[in-house]
Amino acid sequence: MTGNGWAISAHGLTKRYGSLLAVDHVDLEVPAGSIFGLLGPNGAGKTTIIKLLTGLSDITEGTASVAGHDVRRDPMHVKQRVGWVAAEVILDDDLSGWENLWLQAKLQRLTDWKGRAEKLLAYFELTDRRKHKVGTYSTGMRKKMEIALALLHQPEVIFMDEPTIGLDANVRRMLWELITGVNKEFGVTVLLTSHYIEEADRLCQRVAIIDHGKFVAIGTPSELKGRVQADFVELETSEAVTAGRLAAIPGVSSVAQQGPAWVLRVSSAEEVLPRLFQALRTDEIHRINVEKPSLESVFIDLTGKRIDQAGSDVQDYRKFYMNVRRARQ
Ligand SMILES: Nc1ncnc2c1ncn2[C@@H]1O[C@H](COP(=O)(O)OP(=O)(O)OP(=O)(O)O)[C@@H](O)[C@H]1O
Ligand SMILES: [Mg+2]
Repeated sequence: MTGNGWAISAHGLTKRYGSLLAVDHVDLEVPAGSIFGLLGPNGAGKTTIIKLLTGLSDITEGTASVAGHDVRRDPMHVKQRVGWVAAEVILDDDLSGWENLWLQAKLQRLTDWKGRAEKLLAYFELTDRRKHKVGTYSTGMRKKMEIALALLHQPEVIFMDEPTIGLDANVRRMLWELITGVNKEFGVTVLLTSHYIEEADRLCQRVAIIDHGKFVAIGTPSELKGRVQADFVELETSEAVTAGRLAAIPGVSSVAQQGPAWVLRVSSAEEVLPRLFQALRTDEIHRINVEKPSLESVFIDLTGKRIDQAGSDVQDYRKFYMNVRRARQ
């Protein structure tokens, strides 16, 4: 626990890779015991922030303190007090659950770890599978095992980099419950990254929305949603429909184009939709979607694009990798 109540505190945190500003003067304060989310598209800088805060990557500029220690001056103490659940799989499939814990204890140079390991196995309901090879575990059990490994040395802060990427909906929901449970049961501060809006909304007390290395907004999910006093209507149309025709509809305050779709910022979707159907012929409308205030609409409002499309030029290789790995099993 830090003296000032922050588990993580960073000011002007910056990472430069050559001419690229991967993290651009970020200010961050995470209260001890809370769950904080970094929400942003592919390439936004989320993993880089975790690497900076865990001392895995050198800070170009700025300061950061994690679990009471300055990351630049005292990276060893920081590493002893944090856990990391990486997006990539770190389990050894040929070893049993217990052997994976043993290996983790060796890596962390822990002497008195067995009681803690047993407690974690019991918490994650893995006790009766402890002697089975991890390669035989289900996806959900593997995730539990990864979190158990990260908790073994009793970290104060745990970093989870896209913990649910590539998981199907029910395993994802199970993991949400586990993350909340671990946060409460073990009193550990959680910083997680995600590009799933619903995940950040459900789990996190506070969320920072990140785009191109910068925080574009930070607050509780409801504070962020309260900022957008508008709905968004997204529609795909025939080519005869122009920005001018859409902008002329009363209640439409702005018109932007994203890929094949128009994104209209409107005062109220309920009022504007009937006018839209009057202004356009039905055969001119190919698809229509309404976005009420949500973290997604905050992102659209701030960046002019949807979070899931904002980084779509970057291939989601991890999801691909997860699927290949599962297909092989
Ligand atoms: N070691 C590196 N050398 C050069 N550029 C890097 C390096 N690591 C990351 N980058 C770049 O920094 C930017 C931020 O990358 P980062 O991995 O932090 O994004 P992210 O938000 O985690 O994205 P994703 O959702 O895809 O995981 C990207 O443009 C990336 O290409
Ligand atoms: Mg990442």
